Amino acid sequence: MDQPKAVLFDAYGTLFDVYSVGLLAEQLFPGQGQALSVLWRDKQIEYTRLVTTSDDGAHYRPFWELTRAGLRHACKRLGLDLTAERELQLMNQYRHLSAFPEVREVLQALRARRIPTGILSNGDPEMLGIAVRSAGLEGLLDHVISVDAVRKYKTHPDAYRLGTQAVGRDARHVLFVSCNGWDALAATWYGYRTLWVNRYQLPFEELDTQPTRTGSTLRDVLAFFES
Ligand code: LAC
Repeated sequence: MDQPKAVLFDAYGTLFDVYSVGLLAEQLFPGQGQALSVLWRDKQIEYTRLVTTSDDGAHYRPFWELTRAGLRHACKRLGLDLTAERELQLMNQYRHLSAFPEVREVLQALRARRIPTGILSNGDPEMLGIAVRSAGLEGLLDHVISVDAVRKYKTHPDAYRLGTQAVGRDARHVLFVSCNGWDALAATWYGYRTLWVNRYQLPFEELDTQPTRTGSTLRDVLAFFES
């Protein structure tokens, strides 16, 4: 099969390490940091699906707001006292996530091969802009695409379509990379070639579709370009 003509990356959990907020959460709520960061993430994603699938999208809110709502719910559920100051600290941490260590070298290697790259994310444009800048990735990405343009979150096909439109290629010629199994699955259903980066040795989704390939770090993207 031909080499992909462009590479699109999911952002949160794929380029940016969402669980790094667990460190701060652990400082604020000793013994509960891990549980809080996992539940927070799960709620955040659940809310994206809720607003996309209900009432023709009438309840759409930007990812930043759903992230805050997810944090508030997760704290209530775990019985944690989320003061205004703690909320501000955790949300600020979410704004300035660290990138995984291999991100820069992989983007540079793709650039050296003249492969267009981009982010296709649920994040709203402001969040993504700050994340890209604070991780020092400006200039290494050709596209930073937010689903906010269609006010529908992944896994809605309109959200995945933004990626193919931006790079001007059919999905089968574009590699979509995600560490989130559900995202790799739905992108495969959409028609992308996919790499699921399984950093945490998790089982894949049990819905009878596999990603094109599975890897363990973002470096596995480069194997698609070895002739
Ligand atoms: C994103 C989330 C889903 O960046 O990780 O789209």
